Amino acid sequence: MDFIDLKTQYRRIKPSVDARIARVLEHGQYILGPEVAELERVLAGYVGTKHCIAASSGTDTLLIALMALDIGRGDEVITSPFTFFATGEMIALLGATPVFVDIDPRTYNLDPAGLAAAITPRTRAIMPVSLYGQCADFDAINAVACAHELPVIEDGAQSFGATCRGRRSCGLSLMGSTSFFPSKPLGGYGDGGALFTDDDALARTMREIRVHGQDRRYHHPRLGLNGRLDTIQAAVLLAKMEIFEDEVAARIRLGARYTELLAEAFADRPQAIRLPHVESFNTCVYAQYTIEVDQRDDFESRMKALGVPTAVHYPQPLHLQPVFGHLGLREGRFPFAEAAARRVISLPMHPYLTDADLATVVHAVREAAG
Ligand SMILES: Cc1ncc(COP(=O)(O)O)c(C=O)c1O
Repeated sequence: MDFIDLKTQYRRIKPSVDARIARVLEHGQYILGPEVAELERVLAGYVGTKHCIAASSGTDTLLIALMALDIGRGDEVITSPFTFFATGEMIALLGATPVFVDIDPRTYNLDPAGLAAAITPRTRAIMPVSLYGQCADFDAINAVACAHELPVIEDGAQSFGATCRGRRSCGLSLMGSTSFFPSKPLGGYGDGGALFTDDDALARTMREIRVHGQDRRYHHPRLGLNGRLDTIQAAVLLAKMEIFEDEVAARIRLGARYTELLAEAFADRPQAIRLPHVESFNTCVYAQYTIEVDQRDDFESRMKALGVPTAVHYPQPLHLQPVFGHLGLREGRFPFAEAAARRVISLPMHPYLTDADLATVVHAVREAAG
């Protein structure tokens, strides 16, 4: 069994992917070719924002968004300590300080209740993460941000396709960022990412930063980077968008089914496992289907012996990463993030899991959790 199966998806969309790639090879516009603009139109329409800027990765999109806000040395950006490293890394790369707010232990997302206390005169932005495919509570976060006149950037690398109160991830705040890393809900065949906003000035600035800060050829009013999405990746993503709604529906259905089957399997020992909690106002696209268990290392080895792959997202919260040691944030500072990092483990998840796959995984989880 695969942890994520990309081959079944390719077989389904092969004619469209192959034809679209062939078209790029024919026209030869490999850098910012017509497919990039077409993809930006399709994605902006899907998310419901005025602008989409396709870029080279979900890491570069975070960097571009922060650069567009002129964030740098002496600034603070509030984020979650329980995320993929890139979220905090891009803040620090610009010389700013990541300020962490502990997570809500039920959703693993930044807890808006802790937000106001973390705001200082140096705070320049809030960058919540929508982890595992479920959006953070953007109504609550935007309300605090609005009261303090702070911009909000959603790190929606894992939540593309999810909704919060009926609105799509990446369109929930001033700016949204996502990743097209192959294993993400909308994954390309290489690196990629995209930015979303309704703000015309920010969109223009982010487009300039994407190409070395130039506003016209060889004229640079600001610094930028080479942050472009390849035309070939745009072609692949356009083919994948043809089936994306269907895949999102499958993810939502399979995630709910996993939870139902696991709850049944552990009906006699519900305390042995913690299942994902999806807020009533959210839909979750399960970039990861992540549970909590006691003695995770033993559980992981038993699952491996039973032939079911698992992964840990993520074993170390950001405030305890060696590179952030100078922040002086010791163990115990963010107890919910630390407990999650010790206990979480993700099960195989992709839109092409069969009933038999689910039964195999659930049976193995029951065996491995003893
Ligand atoms: C929450 C989060 N932010 C940012 C990224 C970075 O995305 P990319 O790998 O496309 O650079 C990822 C990717 O794993 C992620 O999960």
